[in-house]
Amino acid sequence: MTGSDSTERMAALWAQLRAAPPARLDQLFAADRARVAAMTRRIAWRSGLPEGAGQGMTIDFSKTHLDARLLDLFEELAEAAGFGAARAALKDGGIVNVTEGRPATHMALRGIGAPAAVEEAEALQRRMAMLVEAILEGALGPVRHCIAIGIGGSALGPALALDALTRDLKLVDTHVVSNIDGLALEAAFAACDPHTTLVAVASKTFTTIETMTNAASAMKWLADSGVADPYGRVVALTAAPEKAVAWGVDETRVLPFPESVGGRYSLMSSIGFPVALAVGMEEFSAMLAGARAVDEHFLSTEGRANAPLLAAFCDQYYTRLRGCQTRAVFAYDERLRLLPAYLQQLEMESNGKQVKADGSPVDGPTAPITWGGVGTDAQHAVFQLLHQGTHLVPVDFIASVAPGDDLDPAHHRILLMNCLAQGAALMAGKPSEDPARAYPGDRPSTTFLLDDADAAALGALIAFHEHRTFANAVLMGINPFDQFGVELGKAIAKQIEKGEGDFDPSTRALMQAAGLG
Ligand code: F6P
Repeated sequence: MTGSDSTERMAALWAQLRAAPPARLDQLFAADRARVAAMTRRIAWRSGLPEGAGQGMTIDFSKTHLDARLLDLFEELAEAAGFGAARAALKDGGIVNVTEGRPATHMALRGIGAPAAVEEAEALQRRMAMLVEAILEGALGPVRHCIAIGIGGSALGPALALDALTRDLKLVDTHVVSNIDGLALEAAFAACDPHTTLVAVASKTFTTIETMTNAASAMKWLADSGVADPYGRVVALTAAPEKAVAWGVDETRVLPFPESVGGRYSLMSSIGFPVALAVGMEEFSAMLAGARAVDEHFLSTEGRANAPLLAAFCDQYYTRLRGCQTRAVFAYDERLRLLPAYLQQLEMESNGKQVKADGSPVDGPTAPITWGGVGTDAQHAVFQLLHQGTHLVPVDFIASVAPGDDLDPAHHRILLMNCLAQGAALMAGKPSEDPARAYPGDRPSTTFLLDDADAAALGALIAFHEHRTFANAVLMGINPFDQFGVELGKAIAKQIEKGEGDFDPSTRALMQAAGLG
């Protein structure tokens, strides 16, 4: 099919999708007794950990509005968009990041892809494992604390994984600092003993102003605290190793990762070093094993059977056909409370675009705004709008069958009961004579039920959402691997710093009021 043939075919399919008569969720269930089975996917993995063998996650899409007819059309759409070829290019190291002329090799971190990329990833991972082991064995003296400095993709993944995985076991007490607001770094200083603290500077480019300023202040803190060789206490995690060396880090403590791994796709590269140090390499590898299981599912499963692709069909349906501007993610598990923040960057920085990969304008809304929180807290704060507000918000619920706590089982039972009750309530609604007390219902949700919220499940969830994001991008014709939209603000901040530039009257007045004029 030529480019214009495929564009025409896609336009025709969107027209058919728009014309499909919308059915209510209760009608969909009434029409198909096998709906739950037909719309539920299971992905299983072996984590490599003895107690983690044979785990997995179950994803129930049945409370979304997709039916067989819509799914047929979405499968045709994926075909017309060249999904199979795009997926193969992603795996094989094709130039999928066309605006920057690069492949996207995050799957190689899990052992999947072009042999050279996999070999490189494995070698870099062995190097990281050696350094982790050496540090845990005392090569740098006692290391009890780690201040992990980074921002965006160099912080959100490590913060999520550390928060999720260090509740029972913490080999090193780690504090992720991202904000340039000095209060963030001061809080980490207050929690750490400088004489037993390691500083991990995570930056793909090793130029990000927030990270480099925080890193310099951390060096000053160590020096002011009497640490003889502050730079000897630093590990650098970067795709620009020469810059880290020039900044003062000894080559032996620079852990590189490939340029072709995007920042928001980099947790499983050396950016994950603080996680590996805190939980050990075995747990870190379990995270990779969970991710790999999803990679294999994504690469080997076709059409609606492919869970991340099915999730992308849902995203496209709600965003483009039902006008949903947002999608919400609620983790009914304290261990995953940072997942919504992680997904915000992954999805919004990847697919919040106005042009397609070929530079032409997009033909509809792109990434919905990802937001969310933790259950049950969110029920007592924002769920009012989900149940009775005028916005239609597709919701993802994420819960673990196994509890993370050792308290009375009532805690976990109440957590799960509430999670399932919310999905049921959103769908069923409830009529009432009193309009203020009526619930319209027919509100969609997808439920992810993890066997356990452990390292493998976290890796699986991350890979799932990477592939969901990629599948959405293919369906929209977008390059999900660049992020030029973040550059203008950085450039203007530099102009403000230098006092150069032609600022608008409002910014000029604010600069003066803030003491920057
Ligand atoms: O400004 C956005 C961004 O480039 C993200 O894409 C990235 O994850 C983050 O900044 C941090 O960049 P770096 O890892 O190069 O410091």
